[in-house]
Amino acid sequence: MDITNIKIIAEKEIAQAVTLEELETLRIKYLGKKSQLSKVLSGLGKLSQQERPLVGKAANECKIIIQSLLEEKVSAFKINSAESGVDITLPGIRKELGKEHIISTVLKDISDVFVKMGFCVVQGPEIETEFNNFTGLNIPLDHPSRESFDTFYIKTEKNRERLLLRSHTSPVQIRVMRENKPPLAVVVPGKVYRPDAVDASHSFMFHQVEGFLVDKNIKFSDLKGMLQKFAVEFFGSQIKMRFRPHFFPFTEPSAEADISCIICQGRGCSVCGRKGWLEILGAGMIHPNVFKHVGYKQGAYSGFAFGMGVERIAMLKYGINDIRLFFENDKRFLKQF
Ligand code: DAH
Repeated sequence: MDITNIKIIAEKEIAQAVTLEELETLRIKYLGKKSQLSKVLSGLGKLSQQERPLVGKAANECKIIIQSLLEEKVSAFKINSAESGVDITLPGIRKELGKEHIISTVLKDISDVFVKMGFCVVQGPEIETEFNNFTGLNIPLDHPSRESFDTFYIKTEKNRERLLLRSHTSPVQIRVMRENKPPLAVVVPGKVYRPDAVDASHSFMFHQVEGFLVDKNIKFSDLKGMLQKFAVEFFGSQIKMRFRPHFFPFTEPSAEADISCIICQGRGCSVCGRKGWLEILGAGMIHPNVFKHVGYKQGAYSGFAFGMGVERIAMLKYGINDIRLFFENDKRFLKQF
């Protein structure tokens, strides 16, 4: 290789070097005892008198250029790392890529099933009025859920309506119906709060998805059909659903809905307490008093509502046995989903 070529290639390689180690390797390659330049210089004696000064000059110039390029780059590296206090020659720290929390995913997955059926998603505030959380929903003044051991109240000025951390997502029914006339088909995903002692199945904060549909001539069979469709879409085609009579102040009639146990397919196991069924939500036809509170004319509309606990559904779907795992932020747990 001639000397000009050596220079061109050396310049290129020095420019590409990104570590001090690489620069040292290049120094040995181009200036070391076994380098081509050293060989040229030590072989000068064998050249003719005319050639000797020309080749010698070119080789020395090349050596000086490579030497100064290397020195320049080494000192630039050192200044950089001294100024910033960062050793840029150390291998980098890889940033871990985050991912969506499993509860956010399940919230979206539940809402999406209803969105496909034509529902829209509405969110409400986590700080609510006592009216929206209780009174508007036909929950009587002496109902135990209004007690301070079942609801977090917020200190409010005297003569002002009491505020609280919403204990369910149902108050968004009141907000939406007060502002809009039917037809309405809405799902409400969000956080709710209750002063429960934390254990494997309770948390002072958890998530619910509320849903409601209001129009003319809506029947209980519409509710059953839509929830059955939801269960199949969300849990799989083999899922069965049953409704049991229940009581909620804001619906009449009311029901609780169970799905066939996803662990034992209804045969009975420890997860379903040998019953073969798992309770997943509350539902019913919206109570006339709720319509009255939002200003709808009596008998003008009918509708259904339902509400489900998201952590419970996520626990059933993914076989998780402790609600606290969702909120401890242990990456080993969160990475699995
Ligand atoms: N709000 C109820 C709760 O937190 C859940 C619920 C039950 C919502 C029945 C509804 C319903 O809309 O119809 O326990």
